[in-house]
Amino acid sequence: MKQTVETKPFSDQKPGTSGLRKKVPVFQQEHYAENFIQSVFDSLEGFEGQTLVVGGDGRFLNREVIGKVIAMAAANGFGRAVVGQGGILSTPATSNVIRKRKAFGGFILSASHNPGGPNEDFGIKYNIGNGGPAPEKITDAIFARSKVIGKYYTTDLGVLDLDTLGEREVDGFVIEVIDPVKDYAELMESLFDFGAIQGMFRSGFRMSFDAMHAVTGPYAKEILERRLGAPEGTARNFVPLEDFGGHHPDPNLVYAKDLYDELMGPDAPDFGAASDGDGDRNLIIGRGIFVTPSDSLALLAANAHLAPGYRQGLKGIARSMPTSGAADRVAEKLGVGIYETPTGWKFFGNLLDAGLATICGEESAGTGSDHVREKDGLWAVLLWLNVLAARGQSVKDIVSEHWRTYGRNYYSRHDYEGVETEAANRLVDGLRAKLDTLPGPKINGLTVSAADDFAYHDPVDGSTSKNQGIRILFEGGSRVVFRLSGTGTSGATLRVYIERYEPDPAKHDIETQAALADLIQAAEEVANIKELTGRNIPTVIT
Ligand code: G6P
Ligand code: ZN
Repeated sequence: MKQTVETKPFSDQKPGTSGLRKKVPVFQQEHYAENFIQSVFDSLEGFEGQTLVVGGDGRFLNREVIGKVIAMAAANGFGRAVVGQGGILSTPATSNVIRKRKAFGGFILSASHNPGGPNEDFGIKYNIGNGGPAPEKITDAIFARSKVIGKYYTTDLGVLDLDTLGEREVDGFVIEVIDPVKDYAELMESLFDFGAIQGMFRSGFRMSFDAMHAVTGPYAKEILERRLGAPEGTARNFVPLEDFGGHHPDPNLVYAKDLYDELMGPDAPDFGAASDGDGDRNLIIGRGIFVTPSDSLALLAANAHLAPGYRQGLKGIARSMPTSGAADRVAEKLGVGIYETPTGWKFFGNLLDAGLATICGEESAGTGSDHVREKDGLWAVLLWLNVLAARGQSVKDIVSEHWRTYGRNYYSRHDYEGVETEAANRLVDGLRAKLDTLPGPKINGLTVSAADDFAYHDPVDGSTSKNQGIRILFEGGSRVVFRLSGTGTSGATLRVYIERYEPDPAKHDIETQAALADLIQAAEEVANIKELTGRNIPTVIT
């Protein structure tokens, strides 16, 4: 029976870079999750009788909120909910299911790479019918609605069995529990040369994949070990846990340090990779070499034609503004378009839908293509495996050859986490106020050629997104970018992105921080980071 529940608005339900993310206790407040879910439904039209996909990364609160979404979908008039068995469905797999089923949209319950558990993070994100995150037009409407909402609708569907595959009907509403891996594994088989990768494993190629106790475990087991014949044990930490074993499921050099050390060690396997909480990020390490996400995007774009799904070539490449320009050089050589978008995967959706881009990537460890409308961790791993199998070279040789051909974009990101929000805003506002005065005079001996606050004009829908990051461009193609993270759950994180282009192969083996030292100093001089944040060094350097 449909029930109408009276509620009062919360003022803090503004979706960030990737949906609504808060600490678990915030979501546990009475009506908090329901208010947001109803605000989503109230911002949509035409879903009567339609299908809604619901998936999550298995973190604490996952099952509970899945139950709420399903009951509220039924009460709001949807006809069917499709949910991954055990409440598990990775973000790219959810995107695929939405597309394949021609669903109206879907909810992804995750806080991505942030830790999980009773006092850690949770998140709710709505994706539209193309399988991608809702565009700003919709997220703005959701936020506006959340500020005035007065009631929500739900219903009692009895005990929800999320563990048994198959369909069940309650009062005309169908709940379908699906195998979370099958459709996704089939999609991967259609894109990559599984035969060639199997052959590579048969001839002794070794890899380590760290699922970080998060959602990609079951996917990696099935695809890498069962379908591609990698030895058992290739996938590790493969059982999704509610608290990710107490770790950060963030595949970077800090939280996947064991994997990094293994790949740099004496008995290193040929290839190492990891994915994050919800399976959309990737970490790629070859024996003795870490591949930065920006380089990985460029390398994958340059080699994608070696995989069956991309044999016909790329339509274009898209990257977020802070991502290095390495991919631009590949696009130039291929003679295809390059698009520079704000941070956040949602900005790629229109370009992919319009057929302007095939491959997209971000410095924040996200790479993907037009096969779904989310970034896709395992997809990146499989494309790398396909390239390695096709070229028969090591990761290190492929990367060095790429730099010799295109030049190297030295790149690093310095994060200042947990900065007081006011201080972070003061820093960015200060930079914004002096943008016009920057070109001309030297900063730490470097001449600024241009400085702006990045604004994006979507070529497909004509919308404009302003204030997307302060860019300071120097003569010679170097740059420093400042922006505040949009994914944190408390305080502010200042991100400083530093990049220098080096065409000379004789200078491709410098340690990254040393290669960028003069730019790092220039960033400090222009932004007064130490004084304004009270921090002498970044919290994380990637
Ligand atoms: C999420 C989004 C990405 C984005 C990243 C970093 O993972 O899906 O598209 O690049 O967050 O966002 P932030 O605002 O924290 O720099
Ligand atoms: Zn993620």
